[in-house]
Amino acid sequence: MPIISIEQLSFTYPDGTRALDSITLHIDRNETIGIAGPNGAGKTTLINHLCGYTLPQSGKISLMGTSLTKETVDIIRKKIGVVFQNTDDQLFMPSVVDDVAFGVRSSGLSAREAHESAIKKLQELGLDHLAKKPPFHLSQGQKRFVAFAGILAMQPQVIIMDEPTADLDPRHRRTTMELIRSLSDTTRLIVSHDLDFLWETCGRIVLINEGAIAADGPAHDVLADESLLRENGLELPLQLQGKNNRNPPV
Ligand SMILES: Nc1ncnc2c1ncn2[C@@H]1O[C@H](COP(=O)(O)OP(=O)(O)OP(=O)(O)O)[C@@H](O)[C@H]1O
Ligand SMILES: [Mg+2]
Repeated sequence: MPIISIEQLSFTYPDGTRALDSITLHIDRNETIGIAGPNGAGKTTLINHLCGYTLPQSGKISLMGTSLTKETVDIIRKKIGVVFQNTDDQLFMPSVVDDVAFGVRSSGLSAREAHESAIKKLQELGLDHLAKKPPFHLSQGQKRFVAFAGILAMQPQVIIMDEPTADLDPRHRRTTMELIRSLSDTTRLIVSHDLDFLWETCGRIVLINEGAIAADGPAHDVLADESLLRENGLELPLQLQGKNNRNPPV
């Protein structure tokens, strides 16, 4: 049974924008799946559905065998970890360590245990120097990496990341890539415009364009198909572009 099952999901915003158009997608346990598509394709709208932030208008979603409804959304939310595209929606506690501990507490730990576990995770990721800072004083890249630390500390069965490499410097991008790869007993869904990052981390790619699935297949097929990518407003990952195609800077 797939761990995430989406059946004919459609969604129209109140202003009439049809953001999702009959999306059907099944994701297996421990799969790493990349979602790509041009700006405005509907990727974040889809993620907002998977984390229960938006409930389906038509179609169905089930996570871990439970149908996502008003009644089940709170239970399901505790089982999945989401790093949002806008991290300001995510970090709201007075300090970084409190923020990381907040997520850990949802797994049933006491306040002290959650604090200790948060400190440990921040140390592991080299973020302990930020522990006492208010999250709103962090740089954008620091916010994104702290949000990721919080999700990792929760050890969820499913991790969803919307643009995880936006604002990250090369070192933090590499660390994020290695951490995602190491989570082999976690289902990972990564939305990104960074197709090189998806190439390095994902076995399967789903292309979304104008709210609909334009392609779904192995990463080595989808990300290497230049005309498919171009038709959907994307370009080959840099590492698949022939060296001859690279022009020197002017
Ligand atoms: N609150 C809203 N009200 C009306 N339209 C919206 C709203 N939020 C998003 N949209 C529209 O829905 C469509 C899908 O937006 P969405 O944010 O899901 O795209 P995206 O694929 O995540 O884009 P990006 O790559 O820029 O993050 C866009 O046309 C957008 O303008
Ligand atoms: Mg988005």
